[in-house]
Amino acid sequence: MKFETKAIHAGDQEDPLTGAVVTPIYQTSTYHQKELGGGAKYEYTRGENPTRWALERTMATLENGTDGFAFSSGMAAIHTAMSLLKSGDHIVMANDVYGGTFRLVDKILSQLGITYSMIDTNDAQALEAAIQENTKMVYLETPSNPLLHITDIKKASEIGHNHHSLVVVDNTFASPYNQNPLDLGADIVLHSGTKYLGGHADLLSGIIVVKDAQLAESIKLVQMSIGAVLSPQDSYLLNRSLKTLALRVEKHNKNAAQLADFLNRHEKIAKIYYPGLPGTQDYEIAERQMRGYGGMLSLELVEGLDVAKFVEGMELFALAESLGGVESLIEVPAVMTHASIPREIRLENGIKDELVRVSVGIEDIDDLIADMSQALDRL
Ligand SMILES: Cc1ncc(COP(=O)(O)O)c(C=O)c1O
Repeated sequence: MKFETKAIHAGDQEDPLTGAVVTPIYQTSTYHQKELGGGAKYEYTRGENPTRWALERTMATLENGTDGFAFSSGMAAIHTAMSLLKSGDHIVMANDVYGGTFRLVDKILSQLGITYSMIDTNDAQALEAAIQENTKMVYLETPSNPLLHITDIKKASEIGHNHHSLVVVDNTFASPYNQNPLDLGADIVLHSGTKYLGGHADLLSGIIVVKDAQLAESIKLVQMSIGAVLSPQDSYLLNRSLKTLALRVEKHNKNAAQLADFLNRHEKIAKIYYPGLPGTQDYEIAERQMRGYGGMLSLELVEGLDVAKFVEGMELFALAESLGGVESLIEVPAVMTHASIPREIRLENGIKDELVRVSVGIEDIDDLIADMSQALDRL
């Protein structure tokens, strides 16, 4: 089956009670058990819920895995994956990971005796060098946030596996429509479902997919024990959103490519970060491992231009955090999404104070270009 068909049919199976075509919202915390200790599939919603299960099945299929898990936020999914580590373990992660991921590792996991190194995960030598005897996880984010750098998942997975390390990929920016990390060697793929998967800026969620029975069992244990599961209502909404993921992401890809082209030629733009621009190493790897370049891009204005005036001058692009929704958004990572990363580390990793990140929505591209154009004209 092809992606679009799987997105519509993999999760929803005929409802056993009514024959409903769409899995209903099973708004229940517990289930009637027919016999004492009978081991029913559904006992308590933290463990299993049919609506959540439909979503988990869809996501497992779309990521070419065997088991999917849905959480109350992307951070809950990331925390669950990192809960596979124990005191004394070490993580090697990308130097421009999402600020919340950095905060989790730096402020929370560090208290449990888990240490980390941050490197350019696409530099094979740096990756080899950063791996220590106690490294148990290589954590990748590609395309990265907010610089849209691309890591070669296949190569990084080989290096990680040579050192008996788990390889985790945050696939939020690409979505499974553009990229399937498990096919490229990763052990765990995860998402902030809040972004492209949900796609309408109306829910928080997180997803993990694996293709190994033992890993699935370990993730299930953490999901059940910590309990940050996605509610039946939100599971329904997210499963519904996935049915149009292909259509939406196609349009995001197309709009971002056209906007990048416009900005790349604009005299007030100094630099564009977008993996679909030929001539860069990021582009070469993206060509190999992605089916589309995604809907995100970042930019730097020519020196001296007023960034605040630019982002506040938008009429269509909302000045807001988050990404991946049908509506276009604009933000300044240094004071918004990445404010939790200390300034020295941020600057070291190339995230300047003036960097602007754009989530290109699925509005008509002429309107988006006109809005960018008028905001740039004001400067
Ligand atoms: C790449 C990436 N991963 C994870 C997260 C965390 O997801 P959530 O906000 O759903 O907890 C975000 C949030 O912006 C993100 O951009």
